[in-house]
Amino acid sequence: MKLWQRTSLRGVITVPGDKSISHRAVMFGALAQGTTRITGFLKGEDCLSTIDCFRRMGVSIELGEQAVTVQGAGLHGLKKPDSPLYTGNSGTTTRLLCGILAGQSFETSLSGDASIAKRPMGRVITPLRQMGADITGVDGNYCPLTIRPAAGLHGITYHTPVASAQLKSAILLAGLYAQGQTCVVEPALSRDHTERMLRALGVQVDSQGGTARLTPPDELRARDIAVPGDISSAAFFLVAGAILPDAELTIRNVGVNPTRTGILDALRDMGASITMDNFRDEIEPVCDLTVRSSSLHGITIGGSLIPRLIDELPVLAVAAAFAAGETRICDAQELKVKESNRIAAMVAELSRAGADVEETADGMVIRGGKPLHGAAFQTYNDHRIAMSMAVCALGCTGQSEIADDGVVAISYPDFFQTLSRLGG
Ligand code: S3P
Repeated sequence: MKLWQRTSLRGVITVPGDKSISHRAVMFGALAQGTTRITGFLKGEDCLSTIDCFRRMGVSIELGEQAVTVQGAGLHGLKKPDSPLYTGNSGTTTRLLCGILAGQSFETSLSGDASIAKRPMGRVITPLRQMGADITGVDGNYCPLTIRPAAGLHGITYHTPVASAQLKSAILLAGLYAQGQTCVVEPALSRDHTERMLRALGVQVDSQGGTARLTPPDELRARDIAVPGDISSAAFFLVAGAILPDAELTIRNVGVNPTRTGILDALRDMGASITMDNFRDEIEPVCDLTVRSSSLHGITIGGSLIPRLIDELPVLAVAAAFAAGETRICDAQELKVKESNRIAAMVAELSRAGADVEETADGMVIRGGKPLHGAAFQTYNDHRIAMSMAVCALGCTGQSEIADDGVVAISYPDFFQTLSRLGG
């Protein structure tokens, strides 16, 4: 994909459905009693992997134009798949499935693509084993994973070493099948979509600060779910709007769960003009966001803000490269074990454009404000690196090229079409 420098970005758009919420809507709908109609579902490759896995366990799922309809099998209605489940590039599918499969009465194995094969699964295996699960992986840490029926799961209180919603969710989902309560205590609160959606389906989940406690239910009660637009996808346009000189862009219907809005806090701290209108609240809070051209300056991003913007750090690094002064990203080691090593990837690609950026042990330092030039950017087979560098290209002089641009289909299949529709 070739991209040219742009000065202007104007219009009104929507972004595809939230990836995290789309996964959960299918998974919990599959475990519920009754029919779940999901609107706003993200038809990206990751969420299609989740649908495929549940279909292979006997769940009827219709992927319609307007909605996805899941016929719930109930907590104990999943069937043994006839071959290993394949989770593609999706960490959320892989880790959340571990929790669900730990409670089943049949054996399964799980594998994914080359990136999934490198991602740590020991963080999920350890607590699930403490709950009584029989789960093994390569070197105790990697896919393929094998999950065999356990004699019975029991609830635990688990202090997670990292703030990870995938880890928290895997434990809580195993807790649906456990004797007694299951409690997860996180070092900082990660996204709470699992807790919110389970509560909406009638499960008792008590949350306080970084602690979530689940009481095993008799059943999940199906209900319709409207998936809001993904703030992680909106983030690319928020940064593009903030860095380009002639921009005013409204993104309608974006999920603004406070555990996900770190990107808004960070961009505003950097001086970005972002307004929020038309608030409404169903299972998740939603609003319209408007961004205008802004004059950005560097900040420090770290601590408990990190889990609230973990997926947006690559595009925030782009914002920092266009901001005056120094931005420090710290406490972000988790970025090394995402779809790619996102610290190494962003440092390499921003450097290619002429940015002054340096890798640190737990993040990076970006000394912004240097004029950037177009380049041929690599994507590391990582959707968010591809879209971040596309945003960067809009602010670089001349022409840039994004290699393997098809990788955006993981979370935002129409990204480049939307970008070109905005003109310029
Ligand atoms: C997700 C949790 C986060 C995030 C990922 C989606 C989820 O991962 O990076 O894109 O849906 O629970 P971690 O749990 O590894 O932090």
